[in-house]
Amino acid sequence: MTTPSDSDYARAVELLAAGELVAFPTETVYGLGADAANPSAVAKIFAAKGRPADHPLIVHVAGHDWIERWAEDVPDAAWELAEAFWPGPLTLILKKQAWVPAAVTGGQDTVGLRVPGHPVALELLRRFAAAGTRGGVAAPSANRFGRISPTLAAHVRDELGERVPLVLDGGPCQVGIESTIIDCSRGEPVILRPGHVTPEALGEVLGTVPAIETAAGAPRVSGSLEAHYAPRTPLKLVAADRLLDFLNALRHSGRRAAVLCHSQPPQAGMPHVFRLLPADPAGYAHGLYGALRELDQAGADLIAVEALPAGPAWAAVADRLRRAAAGAGGAFAPPGCGTRPLRGLRQSSPGYSNAPPAGYRLDAG
Ligand code: TXA
Ligand code: MG
Repeated sequence: MTTPSDSDYARAVELLAAGELVAFPTETVYGLGADAANPSAVAKIFAAKGRPADHPLIVHVAGHDWIERWAEDVPDAAWELAEAFWPGPLTLILKKQAWVPAAVTGGQDTVGLRVPGHPVALELLRRFAAAGTRGGVAAPSANRFGRISPTLAAHVRDELGERVPLVLDGGPCQVGIESTIIDCSRGEPVILRPGHVTPEALGEVLGTVPAIETAAGAPRVSGSLEAHYAPRTPLKLVAADRLLDFLNALRHSGRRAAVLCHSQPPQAGMPHVFRLLPADPAGYAHGLYGALRELDQAGADLIAVEALPAGPAWAAVADRLRRAAAGAGGAFAPPGCGTRPLRGLRQSSPGYSNAPPAGYRLDAG
């Protein structure tokens, strides 16, 4: 694994303590970090991302013993979840301590806490805490607002460039999509954002499977905005059994697709760019954002994504893809590309072969 040097960590802590930004790896995605106790440092996150300032940020801490410095009235359920899943891809929403700056909570009376399961993140957080700070690093995903979250240090540099003085490189993120967020601040815990930690896994600890709340209204969770995680190229989900026809129709209308599949690349005999992800939810999540970035750079008119299997195991990636489709091609004004009538779309298929065509790239994430 890629590991920062001792002096990289020292510089990172120095920058954070001085109110500057540091990007760092977590097991989910790369985070854009700032001292969560310093409102002017937190403001730099919003400026670098181009993110509305009323969106709350997750505070990353080194371990359970930091919970009560940031949160109060912590219910038993939250302690049990922390015990079961930290360090790991789960964020707990809890009542905040009075001193916690509004800048980090979006003015709400709650705070999101997470102990990330990545050795580089943990080492950074331990050293930051040891430097006499409050031990909390606020970090959203290290991308421009509404765009694809970074899963490699290079993605962060591409996206934020000079806006971030230091990027700690910890190699590719294992999980690949953002943490599950569960709100434990108001009675029965509810899931605000699905992720790698599934409702069923949470249910095993809680005794009942928590509901997923896809709340409209206030942006308690920015990832809950309909248009999010979006490539610049328009993106459309296409049912597996329609994909070949769809691509043929696109080709006949003179447009190029970049295609994301998880079963077989459709044999269409056309110069489309393909990316094949593993047909299991964890493998798919791991490769998803990298694949979307690559396909986004292919110069295609459209990213066509083979629709996912139904079922709760796929809920987290299905959520991200749905939002990517809503936001693609312009975060809040999706063009009509996917809805324009495509010549030939209703023609019958010339036949689907299950054999992978020769010459296609079969990267597995
Ligand atoms: O995996 C992750 O969670 C990554 C890594 C870097 O830890 N972080 C991440 O941050 O995805 P971000 O800001 O892109 O998404 C965090 C979400 C936001 O949508 C935010 O609204 C929500 O957490 N959040 C933070 N504090 C909250 C609070 N007090 N109440 C409700 N939602 C909160
Ligand atoms: Mg994000």
